[in-house]
Amino acid sequence: DSDSRYDFVIIGGGTSGLVVANRLSEMRDVTVVVIEAGDSVLNNHNVSTTTGYGLSFGTAIDWAYQTEEQIYGGGSKQTMRAGKAIGGTSTINGMSYTRAQKVQIDAWERAGNKGWNWNNLFPYYLKSEQFQVPTADQAARGADYYKSYHGEQGPLKVGWPKAMTNSSMLPILDETFQQLGVSYNRDVNGGSMVGLTVHPDTLDREANVRHDAARAYFWPYENRSNLKIISNTYANRILWKDDADGDAVAIGVEVTGANGVETIYASKEVIVSAGSLKSPMILELSGIGNPDVLTKYDILPKVNISSVGENLQDQTNNGLSYEGREFWLGLPTFSVLPSAEQIYGDQLSEFSSKVMDNLGEYAKNVSISSKGAVQESNVLDALQMQYDLVFKSHVPFAEIVLIPIGHSFSSEYWPLLPFSRGSVHIKSSDPSQSPAINPSYFMFQPDLEAQVDVAQFIRKAFTTAPLNHLIGEEFSPGVEHVPEDASDTTWESWIKSHYRSNFHPVGTASMLPRDKGGVVGPDLKVYGTKNVRVVDASIVPFQICGHLTSTLYAVAERASDLIKRRYIF
Ligand code: FDA
Repeated sequence: DSDSRYDFVIIGGGTSGLVVANRLSEMRDVTVVVIEAGDSVLNNHNVSTTTGYGLSFGTAIDWAYQTEEQIYGGGSKQTMRAGKAIGGTSTINGMSYTRAQKVQIDAWERAGNKGWNWNNLFPYYLKSEQFQVPTADQAARGADYYKSYHGEQGPLKVGWPKAMTNSSMLPILDETFQQLGVSYNRDVNGGSMVGLTVHPDTLDREANVRHDAARAYFWPYENRSNLKIISNTYANRILWKDDADGDAVAIGVEVTGANGVETIYASKEVIVSAGSLKSPMILELSGIGNPDVLTKYDILPKVNISSVGENLQDQTNNGLSYEGREFWLGLPTFSVLPSAEQIYGDQLSEFSSKVMDNLGEYAKNVSISSKGAVQESNVLDALQMQYDLVFKSHVPFAEIVLIPIGHSFSSEYWPLLPFSRGSVHIKSSDPSQSPAINPSYFMFQPDLEAQVDVAQFIRKAFTTAPLNHLIGEEFSPGVEHVPEDASDTTWESWIKSHYRSNFHPVGTASMLPRDKGGVVGPDLKVYGTKNVRVVDASIVPFQICGHLTSTLYAVAERASDLIKRRYIF
């Protein structure tokens, strides 16, 4: 019936999917439907409250995927959180709004993705953004910006929380980090990220609520007659036209919802936006992927792309925390983004040459552990490029988040560009089963070493004046567990028993040339198909130094324009 026929079917009403749904439904003569496994969270306090980070973890709106045992990371399984809701992971995330380093977006184009560079993406960061100029009080507490870096007309509200940490904090942090060689960066959102900064968040300051993808891109537009969302419904697989010659043609999506199993037909395109841990699974269940994986579960291969689900890149997060000598109010948004030079000082060349000497070995190991699904030479190109970004272009090496709140002063950190590469694949032909997720955390020694070295840098910062005057005892790791002169082995074992996923998985359906291990091309269309695209964190080919959503909103905005160009004249 006509109820189940649309022009565009979008799988996943998350961060990226809702942008595409919004922009495509601006074309009045097409119909757009979004299939979303979760429900509305508009009235969910755990989501809306701006001080509620973590409240939705482990609740019904958290997929809480479990990884495989992390053999290089102490053997434990890790939890990878992701939002199951209209709005996706933007409804449960930390709201930090930081983009990327210019050179690393330019690297997308250098790797073969024509048109994907910083200058082309920048207008789309602005298009998505509705920047809220700081008040005088916020400015006094450190909120600062360059006007030319921000958009004011977009759907997504970006700004600082109503209640920020006391104004005495920033000067103390600035003086402390200056001594460690890290300068203040007034606005990290212009493509140059190194430094100490007070970054904005995705929130609506006046309403004092989180601004997620649903509040920004969906709810204000839900009455458009050509836009529909079907929630509490799982997309199982893409269905194909039988007799197509050449490229595979999608005709719709099989879903499981309130009425059992049904087909939702797509007359133009199917857009997969289920997130980087789910989109590759949907491709595989639809016959797009590595034939070795598919035939194991009796799935008929439709398009042979062996790299579907490979190239998974996430970061690892640890925390150090201290007793506070004061009582801090307000939501802190302090981040330190040091370069490798600033972390390593005169030991930089020792560290970088060790990495360089082993790049070939890493590439080989990634290829072997993928059972040949990714080619050694392609991995080597990617690792080499990453090496250049870190050691020659001096992109940020780590992010250190500083959190003075209540009577404690804690920090979380993650090295930004690990060399490890993992994968995500189906482990059943049943779409309701979770995939096998293996980020391969700490697969290579420099990743673990970086995790130690940044921890030591943070400890040094907390013992440097004037910051040291604000803090008392170290709670975690605590000098009784990791003494001041602890060996690397002691640090490493603390790290392995306390780290978590940084929840920034990317790359599992990479945008790259097909012979370079790509799954989608620069039009985000899946190779070998006529009308299936992927638009979400899966297509980001190399990890970036910003938190992901700002870049995903921009990518989805640009993708929407690329799609629309085909249908409007
Ligand atoms: P996203 O996960 O948003 O959307 C996928 C959607 O598809 C979901 O709604 C899901 O329910 C749905 N779906 C999946 N399978 C389906 C199926 N079979 N059928 C139908 N629907 C299906 N970023 C940032 O910028 N700042 C930050 O502070 C943080 N902090 C942070 C904290 C935590 C805890 C997490 C988990 C993540 C972050 N991030 C972040 C990362 C960021 O939020 C994340 O990368 C993006 O929101 C991902 O957007 P996507 O569009 O790729 O997927």
